[in-house]
Amino acid sequence: MDRGTFTEPLKLRGVEIANRVWMSPMCQYSAGHDGVPTGWHRVHYGSRAVGGAGMIMVESTAVGPRHRTTAHDLGIWTAGQIEGHRLLAAQIKELGSVAAVQLNSAGRKSSHRQPWVLSGQNSAVPVQDGGWVPLAPSARAFGTLTVPSEMTVMDIDDVVDAFAAATGNAHKAGYDVVEIHAAHGYLLHQFLSPVSNHRHDGYGGSLENRMRFPLQVAKAVRDAFPPEKPVFVRITATDWIDGGITLEEAKVFAQRLGSLGIDLLDVTSGALAVDAPPPIRQGLNLDFAESLKEAAGTAVAPVGQMADPDLLRNVFESSSVDAVIVGRALLRDPYYALRLAGGQPQEYWPSQYHRAL
Ligand SMILES: Cc1cc2nc3c(=O)[nH]c(=O)nc-3n(C[C@H](O)[C@H](O)[C@H](O)COP(=O)(O)O)c2cc1C
Repeated sequence: MDRGTFTEPLKLRGVEIANRVWMSPMCQYSAGHDGVPTGWHRVHYGSRAVGGAGMIMVESTAVGPRHRTTAHDLGIWTAGQIEGHRLLAAQIKELGSVAAVQLNSAGRKSSHRQPWVLSGQNSAVPVQDGGWVPLAPSARAFGTLTVPSEMTVMDIDDVVDAFAAATGNAHKAGYDVVEIHAAHGYLLHQFLSPVSNHRHDGYGGSLENRMRFPLQVAKAVRDAFPPEKPVFVRITATDWIDGGITLEEAKVFAQRLGSLGIDLLDVTSGALAVDAPPPIRQGLNLDFAESLKEAAGTAVAPVGQMADPDLLRNVFESSSVDAVIVGRALLRDPYYALRLAGGQPQEYWPSQYHRAL
């Protein structure tokens, strides 16, 4: 019975992934101030695992308190946070998905409110209200958020170490995959793009210099994770801004990531600046993903407006991408991945639900 090519398994290093429709990392802003996953996270991610997503990428998880977007982000910087992640990863795996976690530093997009409070992600939480001063390549604010402090070389070294330590914690928690967030205008992307990086030292100016810190992070994370477990990078293919990152620069970065042993590029674009939203177009990042696969020699998975069922059913026949990553469609419907498959639902919906089919 043809259930669609996305139901083919994929093996990356020692990890078997049951299919090629995966859940995108989506911040829930629902942890307590300790950054530990809660019942919300276990049910939310568990439902999408029951719903057939081959991999669950747990949302942006901070590598230190100052690297959170909000005071309600998940964190994985201390030993005390590991147990909550262990329960979450175990839940995802028990339900048949691969458990992955996205490691992030928000940089200048830090210390704001939950999206549903006041003006949300554009609403700064000042220091006197429990916020903090963000770290960034340059002291230039993102929109109306707090002006960040420009990172010293010592700060840069500390963040590299924080990513490595968080990776070790993610391994101890039982995650099968870690993803480094180098897109959507967060810290690594801020270093990569000339729009947000105005440094005059070895970390600013030429592409080589702008890539230096993100590549140091990629190497440190790869070295800190066991060889049998894959490391992904969420990469931006373009900033959609004149003077920002172009596909040509992204290809050079992708090639360097490939040579460091990164296994898969999760390909997105945009979100670096307030006034530069990505275009609305189904399959927006599909061609970019193919170009970056060729440049890097890694596996790739596009994300962003990839949820059209017809597009998804054909994507593996008509393109070279290895998987597809889905975001908002999985917030609307936890069973989205199961609904995509053709054939007899009884063959793949959970047995517990068969009397409803
Ligand atoms: C509520 C919400 C939270 C998000 N949080 C993250 C995140 O933690 N990390 C990340 O890389 N992208 C995040 N994103 C972006 C999504 O992962 C995805 O790239 C984006 O929604 C485009 O994919 P889609 O068109 O399938 O929704 C978030 C998106 C939404 C809607």
